[in-house]
Amino acid sequence: MTDFDADKLSRLLLGEVPGKRIHYLEEVDSTNDYAVGLAVAGAEEGEVVVADRQTRGKGRLGRVWVSPPGKNLYLTVILRPRISPSVSPQVTLMAGVAAAEVLSGYCGDSVSLKWPNDVLIRGRKACGILTEMRLSGAEVDFVVVGTGININMDQADFDDSFGPATSLKVEVGREVSRFDVALKLLRGFGKWYRIFLEEGFSPVRERWMASSGMLGRRIEVRSKDTVKKGIFEGLDEKGALLLLDEEKERRHIISGDVVLAEDWECCL
Ligand code: BTN
Repeated sequence: MTDFDADKLSRLLLGEVPGKRIHYLEEVDSTNDYAVGLAVAGAEEGEVVVADRQTRGKGRLGRVWVSPPGKNLYLTVILRPRISPSVSPQVTLMAGVAAAEVLSGYCGDSVSLKWPNDVLIRGRKACGILTEMRLSGAEVDFVVVGTGININMDQADFDDSFGPATSLKVEVGREVSRFDVALKLLRGFGKWYRIFLEEGFSPVRERWMASSGMLGRRIEVRSKDTVKKGIFEGLDEKGALLLLDEEKERRHIISGDVVLAEDWECCL
């Protein structure tokens, strides 16, 4: 990564969580998979894997995360939180809040969060988060939180087959330093992780909802075999999506893909 000085990043983060140790790689299959390997071998909370390029970058639901060299940020944080496994989806939402704050620093109010793991700019995806967890018995052994941010991709570089995408460069009209984005992201992540551990999910949930572009709007939640339509009412206290469905039932949804469905005739 030409504009990426991993030693400087370690020095600036001075043993913080995350950032106490930066594993920088020119090429890796997936920073998440590499981080899982490190964690299994005993890596500590706060160690970070960053790569210039991923050959098998992973997205949610088995999708590919396009990861060319020299353009974007692919970064995974290893955590060992003392939380119940059922709470791990909240870690993804917390990471989304941290990433949205960083992107807002470049693009202001055009940044929004889309449940469960996307950060959008002008409604186009600029960042995705993939959290993976390993248990030891009934306890969380570790969680790896991978964040991919499109930084210097051009619009023509995107294959929009999973929906419209964008990058910081496209949005601000100039190249953006990946080093600066990584530093801001790790600092913001650390701030929100401490809030989450000390105060629980409630402040994260509040901040997440304040940055959601979809509150009160008509959406569809698509999963493998079903499509549920309704009004997006935000997150419940566990992080599940709250949908007021067509039968006026309030549903708590824990997985699926959300799309705006403004063409749907709503009588709720
Ligand atoms: C998604 O939106 O589907 C999640 C995308 C997550 C991509 C990041 S890039 C760094 C980390 N390593 C991976 O293989 N995936 C995540």
